[in-house]
Amino acid sequence: TRRITVRDITAAKDRGEKWPMLTAYDAMTASVFDEAGIPVMLVGDSAGNCHLGYESTVPVTLDEMTMLSAAVVRGTSRALIVGDLPFGSYQEGPVHALRSATRLVKEAGVGAVKLEGGERSHRQIELLVESGIPVMAHIGLTPQSVNAMGYRVQGRGEEAAQQLLRDAKAVQDAGAFAVVLELVPAELAAEVTRVLHIPTVGIGAGAETDAQVLVWTDMLGLTGGKMPRFVKQYANLRSVMGDAAKAFAEDVVGGTFPQEEHSVH
Ligand code: KIV
Ligand code: NA
Repeated sequence: TRRITVRDITAAKDRGEKWPMLTAYDAMTASVFDEAGIPVMLVGDSAGNCHLGYESTVPVTLDEMTMLSAAVVRGTSRALIVGDLPFGSYQEGPVHALRSATRLVKEAGVGAVKLEGGERSHRQIELLVESGIPVMAHIGLTPQSVNAMGYRVQGRGEEAAQQLLRDAKAVQDAGAFAVVLELVPAELAAEVTRVLHIPTVGIGAGAETDAQVLVWTDMLGLTGGKMPRFVKQYANLRSVMGDAAKAFAEDVVGGTFPQEEHSVH
């Protein structure tokens, strides 16, 4: 079986098919999702909060994203792997973006990269696409700009809605093969999805986008703490893992592990 490509993703929109995307930050988790048939995995810089223990995505480095992306590529054989360009790895301009994206493609083996920003990032997207690197754009709430925008719903009100539409068209015109819409009103995400010919990937953007993405540690209940309204928890790994760790600790302290069957002579 060959890997899914960006062309398969584009074709899915033409056929009106919806598809799921999950984040992944390590080989083993990625292999589970690959075997489950998840067609696209994002090595998101949400790894900052969800894997590396930072307070936001802002401190994540290109070295870290390269290492995590390489692990996810190694753990999968079917999914299209998209690597996030972290804050500070593309803002200086198109050549800066190309240098950073090239590392994710050559050293980690990703099939596409993602970067944040609509109109403000269109020159970066253009050069990457010209150079043969497929780009997933990301507009609406862009967490790398948390210090400027906070974590608030984007695109509310006529002026903000018009800006979001301009951003969506800008990334499509620049050659992006898909665009993430994060935390925007469902009606606006639906309009963007109708207007664009490239697929929209929603997170907190209602039911009408072409695809849906969730952060895997949120989706599986590992993250802990209060979840945003748009997250659906499909499992509670935090309690599964915590209970298992407690049971192991009790066995060791109480002398009931290991048993004879766990021992060699
Ligand atoms: O880093 C990430 O996980 C993301 C998704 C939420 C789209 O950018
Ligand atoms: Na991200």
